[in-house]
Amino acid sequence: MANLPNEVARRRTFAIIAHPDAGKTTLTEKLLLFGGAIQLAGAVKARGEQRRARSDWMKVERERGISVTASVMSFEYNGCAFNLLDTPGHEDFSEDTYRTLTAVDSAVMVIDAAKGIEAQTLKLFAACRLRDVPIITFINKMDRESREPLDLLSEIEDQLALDVTPASWPIGMGKTFRGCYDLLKDRLILFERGGKQDEDVVEIKGIDDPKLDANLKPDEVQRLRDDIEMARGLMKPFDLGAYREGHLSPVYFGSAVNNFGVGELLSGLAEMAPPPRPQKAATRMVEPTEEKTTAFVFKIQANMDPKHRDRIAFTRLCSGKFERGMKMLHVRSGKQINLHNPVVFLAQDREIAEEGYAGDILGIPNHGNLRIGDTLTEGEPLQFVGIPSFAPEHLQAVRADDPLRAKHLGKALEQLAEEGAARVFRPEIGTDYIVGVVGALQFEILADRILTEYGLPVRFEPTSLHTARWIESDDPVALKTFLDETRASVGKDHNGDHVFLARNAWHLDRAEKDHPKVRFLKVKEQAQ
Ligand code: G4P
Repeated sequence: MANLPNEVARRRTFAIIAHPDAGKTTLTEKLLLFGGAIQLAGAVKARGEQRRARSDWMKVERERGISVTASVMSFEYNGCAFNLLDTPGHEDFSEDTYRTLTAVDSAVMVIDAAKGIEAQTLKLFAACRLRDVPIITFINKMDRESREPLDLLSEIEDQLALDVTPASWPIGMGKTFRGCYDLLKDRLILFERGGKQDEDVVEIKGIDDPKLDANLKPDEVQRLRDDIEMARGLMKPFDLGAYREGHLSPVYFGSAVNNFGVGELLSGLAEMAPPPRPQKAATRMVEPTEEKTTAFVFKIQANMDPKHRDRIAFTRLCSGKFERGMKMLHVRSGKQINLHNPVVFLAQDREIAEEGYAGDILGIPNHGNLRIGDTLTEGEPLQFVGIPSFAPEHLQAVRADDPLRAKHLGKALEQLAEEGAARVFRPEIGTDYIVGVVGALQFEILADRILTEYGLPVRFEPTSLHTARWIESDDPVALKTFLDETRASVGKDHNGDHVFLARNAWHLDRAEKDHPKVRFLKVKEQAQ
């Protein structure tokens, strides 16, 4: 196990967060290109199309041109092993996104230089902040007319309450974009439209080096010197500790489509981004360099191939060395599972995983026994914590078109709930299932999946319900009183945990006031 600490130290598991259109797909592709994982730009999209062609249930995805599924891409660069977890950018899928963010150690936030912070940037950033995920910012599309760099930086500071430090400084923009000054390494990196991978780099000894004058026009040099002086005066210097604690973000400027800034970003990730972190379990912290292997499931993807009723459990290794064929304890059920064919995800393909270390993501095929939040160990009854479940913001009743098939519907809903695709509640009174989702578009996707995967036409119908809250109390009498008094508004989720189904904000408020000993939870940790 001599190389365990080295293997852990060289891993970087991260996600890219961005508002749609900021350039996440383009940057992902370029990162893979730089990492040698793909040979041609455009391959990421091709992969998406191939996958869509294979699986019917992604019809909605195809029709709407949005990415419903998150995937994992692994590649190597400069001696580091990167795992890039894709987060669905569409606002309707934030719950999946939140959970993906529990499996990364850092994030790259992509911002469109002309637009700055957008709605979805804010939402995704909030998810990162919940866990103090360290963030490197990439301001993209500098080859277009964009906002002033200082203006963009202050917007990040103000809107996100996050300190920023420029890692590079742009020279010009749009048609006059000349490149960036690398503030961390004192280099001038010249921009070339449609750029190649190896940029023209001029090593500089500080901002006063006459080499700058030799490579740029006088007004460009003057502006650069003034800008940098001002930026250095206004902004904090880079501080690794503050970055890794999630309080300070180094900012790169670039143009993903022109390959510009991508190499610097990757080097930044290699040099600054944290290796796999210790992971919190209910009883103790688990260090990534511990010899015994541990892992947790953060995402389930069902029916990737409709011909096989398989599900893939996306599992993050937290410690030890995984080896193909090893047996692990599935802590929730107490059963051993044999990992003889888990997969790792390469840029364009999946491959059987031979080995893995903390930070790596395995895809474990299974028939539904693995659920989001589950822990796997070599025998210790650990339970990792911190994998959240969010109270749904939209609630609807669902019925099978054919009432005789209600039982089948129950089974389908149970599986979808286990997978984390929806919350499914059974009210104490009545026979309807209430389905809750975070984004309204998910109802359509669910109906489509229930039809294609289970052959069941269903209807979703609006209800008079407003929101759901998980309920708990340290006082069993108070809990019982609450349940008795509000029976008409109480149900259970697929784990058998009680939920309060409120008709409106007032109803919830009233229940909270009337039952001060009961807690109404918006976020629940799963599979405890
Ligand atoms: P997303 O995944 O965040 O939604 O964004 P995506 O990468 O698909 O990029 C959105 C659009 O922005 C694409 O153009 C892409 O080519 C463009 N883009 C990405 N990076 C840059 C950049 O550095 N400079 C400029 N000028 N454009 C950039 P599109 O016209 O929507 O798609 P396509 O026809 O180019 O594929």
